[in-house]
Amino acid sequence: MVCLGNICRSPLAEGILQSKLPNDRFRVDSAGTAGYHIGRAPDRRSIEVAAQNGIDISQQKARKFSQDDFDRFDKIFVMDHSNLMTLKQMALTPDDLNKVTLLLGEDQVPDPYYGNEDGFKAVFELIDQACVQLSEELQKM
Ligand code: 4NP
Repeated sequence: MVCLGNICRSPLAEGILQSKLPNDRFRVDSAGTAGYHIGRAPDRRSIEVAAQNGIDISQQKARKFSQDDFDRFDKIFVMDHSNLMTLKQMALTPDDLNKVTLLLGEDQVPDPYYGNEDGFKAVFELIDQACVQLSEELQKM
C-alpha cells in the first residue's frame, strides 16, 4: 500500500487489508513515495479513525518505497495518480510495472492531510470498501 507520506492513507490501507486476510498467508506492508516522515508513527487522525473501527495502526513506522519493494511484493496498490506516476518511473521491468495499480481501480483516495477528521473518516470508508473485494480476490489466488 503506497501513498505520498506513509502517515495518513497507506497506514490505514495496511491495517485494514491486514485485518481482512489470514496473516499466515499474506504479508501486508505500506510505504510512501516521499521521505518526509520516515520513522514516524501514523498521523494521529489516522490512528484514531482506525481505532474507532477496531484496528490498531499505532505501532507502524513510516518508510520510503524502495526499489527492492518491487521484488519483495507481488502486488502494489497506490492511492492516487501522482503515486502511480512515481512508481511507474521507478519500475525497471515490465513485471515491476504490472504489479502497480490504483487501489480504487480508476478513482483516487484523496489526500486527507490538510483537511479535518471527516476527511479521514471518508478515506477510511473508501479504503475499507475496496479492501472487502480485494481480500476476497487475493484469497482466491
Ligand atoms: P499521505 O498524506 O500521503 O496519505 O501519508 C500526506 C502526508 C504528509 C504530507 C502529504 C500527504 N506532507 O506533505 O507532509
